[in-house]
Amino acid sequence: MARHLITSAIPYINGIKHLGNLVGSQLPADLYARYQRGRGNEVLFLCATDEHGTPAELAAAKAGKPVADYCAEMHEVQARIAQGFRLSFDHFGRSSSPQNHRLTQHFAGRLAEAGLIREVTEKQMYSRADGRFLPDRYIEGTCPNCGFESARGDQCDNCTKQLDPVDLINPRSTISGSTDLEQRETKHLYLRQSTMRQQLQDWIDSKTDWPILTTSIARKWLNDGDGLQDRGITRDLDWGIPVRKGDQDWPGMEGKVFYVWFDAPIEYIACGAEWAEANGLDAPAWERWWRTDKGASDVTYTQFMGKDNVPFHTLSFPATILGSGEPWKLVDYIKSFNYLNYDGGQFSTSRGRGVFMDQALDILPADYWRWWLLSHAPESSDAEFTWENFQASVNKDLADVLGNFVSRITKFCRAKFGEAVPEGGAWGEQETALIETLTARIRTYEALMDAMEVRKSAQELRAIWVLGNEYLQSAAPWVTIKEDPERAAMQTRLGLNLIRLYAVLSAPFIPDASAAMLAALHSDDAAWPEGDLGAWLGALPADHTFTVPEVLFGKITDEQREDWQTRFAGIRT
Ligand code: 2FM
Ligand code: ZN
Repeated sequence: MARHLITSAIPYINGIKHLGNLVGSQLPADLYARYQRGRGNEVLFLCATDEHGTPAELAAAKAGKPVADYCAEMHEVQARIAQGFRLSFDHFGRSSSPQNHRLTQHFAGRLAEAGLIREVTEKQMYSRADGRFLPDRYIEGTCPNCGFESARGDQCDNCTKQLDPVDLINPRSTISGSTDLEQRETKHLYLRQSTMRQQLQDWIDSKTDWPILTTSIARKWLNDGDGLQDRGITRDLDWGIPVRKGDQDWPGMEGKVFYVWFDAPIEYIACGAEWAEANGLDAPAWERWWRTDKGASDVTYTQFMGKDNVPFHTLSFPATILGSGEPWKLVDYIKSFNYLNYDGGQFSTSRGRGVFMDQALDILPADYWRWWLLSHAPESSDAEFTWENFQASVNKDLADVLGNFVSRITKFCRAKFGEAVPEGGAWGEQETALIETLTARIRTYEALMDAMEVRKSAQELRAIWVLGNEYLQSAAPWVTIKEDPERAAMQTRLGLNLIRLYAVLSAPFIPDASAAMLAALHSDDAAWPEGDLGAWLGALPADHTFTVPEVLFGKITDEQREDWQTRFAGIRT
């Protein structure tokens, strides 16, 4: 049994995420976790909320709540919505956890001992009107790289370049809007990642099977002389993990906290510790996933994220891990995604544009969204959500192909043989040919899922559903039954067993429909079709009872589509 550690980029705590965020990390990570579990492998799937930094402080201030209360509430909200989308995290942690405080301070201490941290007295933007420094999102201005007018102090949303607040053109405070700013001296810690350039370059070069999107971004940062500048890992903020060297004070750094991008990836590890604690397990239980000296050397670790997160995961976080000199598990594979756009523009959290996760679940069950998002995942390029495309995919793939197959065969059986699997003889020529084609397609599907080719996997799965429909159409048990009831019974028995096949294969994409199919078949056997498919398709024997299920997928009508199109055309406030 292989062991898979899987993490999704941890979403910021400030508000509910949109469908573009979902398809860029949590959803494909869930697809992969469910698939690996389905194949019988051992999986630890972790995600958390990213609770520090200026996004959290700003959102809490806007909500008029103390930041700790705001984070606790929003964590619950995000956890509930994640459950609504059936995201099967083994633990959904919090970067503000005591475990992450300890671990982040521990890493900082190790990096300091290794001589990889320097203390720098530097000038930072200070707002006289606000009486405070303005790190990261507390400041906005024009991007010096691309001219985007609302670039944040830490990163430009338009060109993804990491920025320094002092580089912004026409800077202004996002707290008060004041432009009465000056540069003032303050002391900060810098991670000397530039000294690790060659080590990181060699590591990236060894990842020849990684997606081009991941390695090209990493290489760009390594080579354009910009990316591997030493990074400030502390901030003048109140909310965050206090700067300490392990369990000791850090003289001169009192009242400061670590930068959110320093502690957020460490939360991947801390989340393992949170998972163990939540399940009454001891330290070795999580360390066997995270420490190569304690059992993690046979773990395959895969991370999922949007392209804007790639530099932190290919350079900064590995620099933290490698620099610690301790045997922590490094990522084995980084699956990154382009952006999903919304109806002719960008999804935008700050501008409330698009469909947000809670709104999506208010109008349709999770499987509809999961199927569309995954089968249109922005892998090789940016993708676009349109209501027309969504309606067409749901109606064709889910209702016409899969739903129709399930409904036809179960209803036919009930009408002619009753609600139990009929016997019939052995598979005939047509069935043997179908089983052969299905076997080849299932092996292709597995290879694509192993390779995390999300869109292609969806296409292959759909092709497998289509095969069932084509078989039913040409075998036509409703015709056969007139001359050869025995043969019609065998065809029907195969059809019912195909539903079980579809339930098992489709579970990573559409877990609720999959569960409904198995429930209709009165079966809880979700074992993967390994080995001889012909034998596997005999698992539901004669006389095994079933129930005709409710309609699996309703069609989206033109009126619904138009209504949603209008409802989601504006800006969510
Ligand atoms: O882009 C984001 O939503 C960040 N909160 C992702 C952090 S991933 C990690 F490093 F923890
Ligand atoms: Zn820019």
